[in-house]
Amino acid sequence: MTAPAPAAPARTGPAAVICGIGSYLPPDVVTNDDLVARLDTSDEWIRTRTGIATRHVVSPGTATSELAVEAGRRALESAGVDRPDALVLATTTPDRLCPATAPEVAARLGLTGIAAFDVSAVCTGFLYGLATAEGLIAAGLAERVLLIAADAFTTIIDPLDRGTSVIFADAAGAVMLRAGTYDEPGAVGRTVLGSDGTLSDLIEVPGGGSRQRSSGVAAAPDDGWFRMRGRETYRHAVNRMASASRQAAAAARWRTESDVDRLAAHQANARILRSVAEELGITAARQLSNIEHVGNTGAASIPVLLAQSVSEGALLPGHRVLLTAFGGGLAWGATTVVWPDVKPG
Ligand code: UT7
Repeated sequence: MTAPAPAAPARTGPAAVICGIGSYLPPDVVTNDDLVARLDTSDEWIRTRTGIATRHVVSPGTATSELAVEAGRRALESAGVDRPDALVLATTTPDRLCPATAPEVAARLGLTGIAAFDVSAVCTGFLYGLATAEGLIAAGLAERVLLIAADAFTTIIDPLDRGTSVIFADAAGAVMLRAGTYDEPGAVGRTVLGSDGTLSDLIEVPGGGSRQRSSGVAAAPDDGWFRMRGRETYRHAVNRMASASRQAAAAARWRTESDVDRLAAHQANARILRSVAEELGITAARQLSNIEHVGNTGAASIPVLLAQSVSEGALLPGHRVLLTAFGGGLAWGATTVVWPDVKPG
């Protein structure tokens, strides 16, 4: 049993407190058998290697902004807030390369005029967005921030790549944050963030950016698709989520083995989730999971998991929740929150 970490230095400025939550899954569902019809794979392989049985996908013509607007509307309703001061959108699948998608999402929510921008941190986008929103609040630049994490991942997945098609899916989740105090339920704990750009090519979309455009060589048709070196990524995912989780828990003076009531980890792969929980000494009963029917939804993964867990009664007010994520960049993070009494909108 490790001794509790020394208290982290006191933070100045108001805390960011979760006061509303919402999520949205597009209605179309793809089963493993649907994938078997076009790929060299099997339902058994997908279930045992990833834990996924079905996933939601956007229909043709639906972009990330549509998912984001729905989740954002629900989080505003949940919080009873009409007009936040800022909107932060975490996404890897913006509607267009330029401009950011957040201003359009804000406009469609009737929020024209507020600060609105995108954060790009792939599957860790929600936690990077959370830290960004917290920073706006702590600096006194905003009192209420709507954080949306949305990804239409299937729009960048090569339909013939069995390594990624079986995992990734589409969704959006959102939380409302307000200025408050560090000792109240919902206050975001000390967030741990990290990155390793020396491994940026483990997860990438090689074409379409300035690197490819300035090369003077036209992008090959396949260069617009998302690529992931799965096996190598897997190992880093477990190590980084476990170590970031330990740091975030230590900052909250929680022992992962005994003080964490719920682990809300990015739903990358059911085996990764089990390994992270085992490393932290967190039992299966204390681990939240929706990967079986939602898949890996990138930045949206954690807020969708939180919203669904509240709706299903698996996450209750007062639970000490450890959140952690990992993904392309590489980028990772973790934080803590004592769950507040919020109902998904
Ligand atoms: O979201 C954040 C970042 N992403 C992650 O953290 C995801 C990390 N990676 C993974 O989840 C897993 O690595 C995958 C699910 C992508 C792959 O599972 P794996 O157990 O690591 O499989 P593998 O890549 O080591 O491949 C094992 C075998 C290979 O065949 P051989 O070489 O042993 O003959 C693959 O070709 O499984 C084969 N394979 C498949 N077979 C059937 C790979 N994908 C499939 C498939 N169906 N869909």
